[in-house]
Amino acid sequence: MRAEDPQLVRLADYRPSDFLIDTVDLDVRLDPVATRVTATLKVRPNPDGREGAALVLDGDELKLVSVAIDGVPLDDDAIEAAPERLTLANPPRGPFELTVVTEIDPTANTRLMGLYRSNGAYTTQCEAEGFRRITYFLDRPDVLAVYTTRVEGPKAETPVLLSNGNLVETGDAGDGRHFAVWRDPHPKPSYLFALVAGDLGVVEDRFVTASGRDVALKVFVEHGREDRAAYAMDAIKRSMRWDEEAFGREYDLDVFMVVAVSHFNMGAMENKGLNVFNDKYVLASPETATDGDYANIEAIIAHEYFHNWTGNRITCRDWFQLCLKEGLTVFRDQEFTSDTRSRPVKRIMDARNLRASQFAEDSGPLAHPVRPEAYAEINNFYTPTVYEKGAEVIRMLKVLIGPDAFKAGMDLYFDRHDGEACTIEQFVACFAEVSGRDLGRFMLWYRQAGTPTVEIRTAYDAAAKTFAIEAAQTVPPTPGQPVKQPAVIPMVVGLVGPDGADLPLTVGGAAASPVIELTEPVTRVTFENVAARPVASLFRNFSAPVKVAADLTDDDYLFLAAHDADPFNRWQAGQTVALRNLVARVAALRASRPQPEEPRIADAIGRAFAPDETDHAYAAQVAGLPSEGDVAREIGDEVDPDAIHAARRALKRDLAARLGDAAAAAYERLSETGAYSPDAASAGRRALKIAALDLLAADGAAEGVARAKALYDGATNMTDRIMALQILSLHESDARAAALAAFEADYGDDPLLMDKWLLIQAATPLPATLDRVKALMAGPRFDIRNPNRVRSLVGAFGGNPTQFNRADGAGYAFVAETALVLDRINPQVAARILGAFKTWRALEPGRRARAEDALRGVAAAPGLSPDVGDIARRALG
Ligand code: PHE
Ligand code: ZN
Repeated sequence: MRAEDPQLVRLADYRPSDFLIDTVDLDVRLDPVATRVTATLKVRPNPDGREGAALVLDGDELKLVSVAIDGVPLDDDAIEAAPERLTLANPPRGPFELTVVTEIDPTANTRLMGLYRSNGAYTTQCEAEGFRRITYFLDRPDVLAVYTTRVEGPKAETPVLLSNGNLVETGDAGDGRHFAVWRDPHPKPSYLFALVAGDLGVVEDRFVTASGRDVALKVFVEHGREDRAAYAMDAIKRSMRWDEEAFGREYDLDVFMVVAVSHFNMGAMENKGLNVFNDKYVLASPETATDGDYANIEAIIAHEYFHNWTGNRITCRDWFQLCLKEGLTVFRDQEFTSDTRSRPVKRIMDARNLRASQFAEDSGPLAHPVRPEAYAEINNFYTPTVYEKGAEVIRMLKVLIGPDAFKAGMDLYFDRHDGEACTIEQFVACFAEVSGRDLGRFMLWYRQAGTPTVEIRTAYDAAAKTFAIEAAQTVPPTPGQPVKQPAVIPMVVGLVGPDGADLPLTVGGAAASPVIELTEPVTRVTFENVAARPVASLFRNFSAPVKVAADLTDDDYLFLAAHDADPFNRWQAGQTVALRNLVARVAALRASRPQPEEPRIADAIGRAFAPDETDHAYAAQVAGLPSEGDVAREIGDEVDPDAIHAARRALKRDLAARLGDAAAAAYERLSETGAYSPDAASAGRRALKIAALDLLAADGAAEGVARAKALYDGATNMTDRIMALQILSLHESDARAAALAAFEADYGDDPLLMDKWLLIQAATPLPATLDRVKALMAGPRFDIRNPNRVRSLVGAFGGNPTQFNRADGAGYAFVAETALVLDRINPQVAARILGAFKTWRALEPGRRARAEDALRGVAAAPGLSPDVGDIARRALG
């Protein structure tokens, strides 16, 4: 270990807490700069802990006022108090009552962890380790307590006083102040504690649960924004009903509250009974929100609500088990969206997103297992691997044991572990038990990082009428894991016959399951009675989060794109042909050879614009080309982002030439007339229309730009307006400048809309982008203290393939410098921004050297936070 290496927390070192806390009584007297917190804790030694141990409570930047045991104040030599720790060397051997008084400054809290202020309102964020910034505590998820919270504040500034659970008392506190007492009967870990106080508007509704419990629903927003809360409220009710129907889970308090705040480090937080949301995932109206915003709001409302059972009623034993609640809850929100909208489209979007974020992470220096085994800073493990790959692992489990056993396993999990803090082993054991299967090898998905690659060889024997598939898997080395074992990979297959219909699957003379389990380095299966040469449809519905390299030809894929009964693979087949062509184009560009054309890509893509196409949302996916990131990952190393951009542009130009008429006709056909509705079908129609426009405006074609300008000027909803602006933003033109200026003039006072405006400018491939981003950062629409602003401008720039990766390294230097400035204000968000470097090692040597310089500069900076220090060190590897 080098001297500067921070202490790692290791899963292997887990031991139960030496003490338990049964009840927590909090008395919080709000004050902008000196909030007084009195915590009265019923503490007792843990029978599973070490006898006679000292009581060591966690703190973080805390100021201790006093400590008492059973009402008797402790003097200074009985305790050891530091901002980050409170130690009682000789606590009583039996149960006792500990009273701790601390003072905190919510206004100075720019880290947005613990108690802080957002637009004047007080709010808390405790996951993962924020409660220790409110009071000294055993701030670990396996210490479950019943909380009673008295919140007191000035009536004028804080008419609304909220905490977890049910409201039990309100009253006057004198001096223009009042109080509310909340009691949460469900034992919970400290990370689920929340308190909100402010002058907020509220929208109310109610929900009656399946067993007849009447639940008050409240969505709190800034005054004047109440009319933007209707969709979120509707999503709450639909989520509640769905969880009853799909998972048999009912709500368990008298009130369910959602609060929208403008300063928030993440998307939202599942605090018991009091979810706190980033306002961008609550507020929506047709004039201000896009179809994407509506979809996100619905999915995130559902996600946080579903945590009530997967996360809150059953929580995590320690933070290594984060995927126990996150992977499972993502899986649940994916299922909700699939049932609510289009299942195939949701699957395609999730696969796209997984590849863009998780595959990228998994292939670089920040790769880690779904359940990490060590961390320096837990905040850096809220990652696509823990969340999205965590959900894929559960989806594979369902494929492997079947839907009935999966349901039985979930029911057993809820029955057996309600009220507990659990591990992944306990979760998986439920499924092993109900299915009678040994899932020991399956656990590798939780332990091994890296995206497996499956190489497929197929062979048809016309004489024997057999079709053989050979699948060879490899799991690549990742940091700290040089050698891997074969994973348990469910490969769902179909054999598509010459007429496009699926052939029956026969193995060993009997009907065979479409699920082939790849458990060895090489797995072979031979299908019998195959009358004519089929085309193999592999990993249907994206049955495993792996990379596939199959010996299928472009002809085979084009056939699948036309005929595969599996909608995911029909989409995937077109993508595969396009991706192959893009890779070939990049190679040709770099070797100064002419661009290879594959005219039949237009057939696959062009199907989206056929007049008889009625599934517009699906067609919009078919029309979308692989992203520049997709191409970069397919190439794998020595990546030249400029060549990739040029290749993709060339393909788009080619497609525009071949499909222009069809796209123009589709654009006209799909153009809106009626009133805006955010439903999935209407959103799909708009998405396909925009895909057509995007093609028509390829390379800044004048006719397409004119259409985009017309759409911008005449837009009657924000989806059309933003999509038009985004298309216009790709190329310099008068229309571009005019639309950007008009947007700012029209929406300058709406921060969420300015976020879109910032993002669009930061994400364009134009060479002036970096200068523009710097200017915007210095301008009035930016505020480095607001994470949404930072993500929209600096985060989007970090994801800009050509401009972040400028050959001169200026993009790297800018993001590195900004991360350092931000580190003094909000380390968590600074660390996220630095995540832009997660694939730097795959770059060509010139850029790689410049990216490394920038990262070394960060790593060498004095006084780094654990958050940024950890990312910089791991990224450098
Ligand atoms: N637990 C939140 C979720 O995924 C995410 C979160 C983590 C929010 C940490 C805030 C802080 O639903
Ligand atoms: Zn979550």
